[in-house]
Amino acid sequence: MERNLALEVVRVTEAAALAAARLMGRGDNVAADQAAVTAMRKALNYVQFKGRVVIGEGERDEAPMLFIGEEVGASETPRVDIAVDPLEGTSIVATGGNNALAVIAIAEEGGFLHAPDTYMQKLAVGPKARGAIDITASPTENLRSIAKALRKYVEDLCVVILDRPRHQDLIRECREAGARIKLIGDGDVAAAIATAKEESGVDVLMGTGGAPEGVLAAAALKCLGGDFHGILKFRNKEESERAKAMGVDDLNKVYTMEDLARSDVMFAATGVTFGDFLKGVRFFSGGAHTQSIVMRSKSRTIRTIDTTHYFEFKPKYD
Ligand code: FBP
Repeated sequence: MERNLALEVVRVTEAAALAAARLMGRGDNVAADQAAVTAMRKALNYVQFKGRVVIGEGERDEAPMLFIGEEVGASETPRVDIAVDPLEGTSIVATGGNNALAVIAIAEEGGFLHAPDTYMQKLAVGPKARGAIDITASPTENLRSIAKALRKYVEDLCVVILDRPRHQDLIRECREAGARIKLIGDGDVAAAIATAKEESGVDVLMGTGGAPEGVLAAAALKCLGGDFHGILKFRNKEESERAKAMGVDDLNKVYTMEDLARSDVMFAATGVTFGDFLKGVRFFSGGAHTQSIVMRSKSRTIRTIDTTHYFEFKPKYD
């Protein structure tokens, strides 16, 4: 993965974040998402690569842009696969909550699992608990193993779980095991990344969320030296049939971080709203401040980029 793409991909997530942040708190998830998608696609077409969207806004017939299979970029080389979530946390932006991000990950061709738009059971931890997780074991067993790796008591652990009725049993078991829990409304990519940031106070992400978000979280944790396991979860036969058509042979397969993000990867995110590890967009007269992170798995370099944008002088990407 070419290191000089780093700044270019940050421009892409910045463009999406700036567009979505304008619609913060307006109660309109769809408009915020659409603004991010449009801005991200325009910016992607200025990047010097030939990118194929493998994780995107859906398939061609359901997504007008950044659909799976769409090609973007301003050059014929390098050829890369890209995973995008122009707005991770559409409801977060609609309500002005925390941890909405604009996200992109880039891999060599064939580097990402072509995850269907279904659900994924996820287990994510930071670097110190790498190797201590097993998604086929019970939550209690995982909590004990993670606590041991972190040299903490299970009672000291903080588990992030999406606040959904489907997680009732999981929440009960984590409570019985003695762990502390942070229930979140949305945004499990940010939660997965938070496990790798000691100051976030979060140790592990458990539960089921979007499969595309799982691939993006795995890419981020690969750059951060963390660990991730996932199992696809289908809501109906149609979803499992689509997965088969996309090349998923074993519907119950346990995906490791390496299965989801196979090659060297680059991951970038810009905060749309304030969050655990990135500040959100802050507008001022004539411009805005953004904060982004860009990382590469090969070098493990993690850059935090604070940018001041002056709209009068910005390229318009048209
Ligand atoms: P969107 O930005 O697409 O709304 O996703 C937000 C999110 O909370 C993800 O972080 C998470 O993986 C997924 O939705 C969970 O799905 P659901 O809301 O259907 O439980």
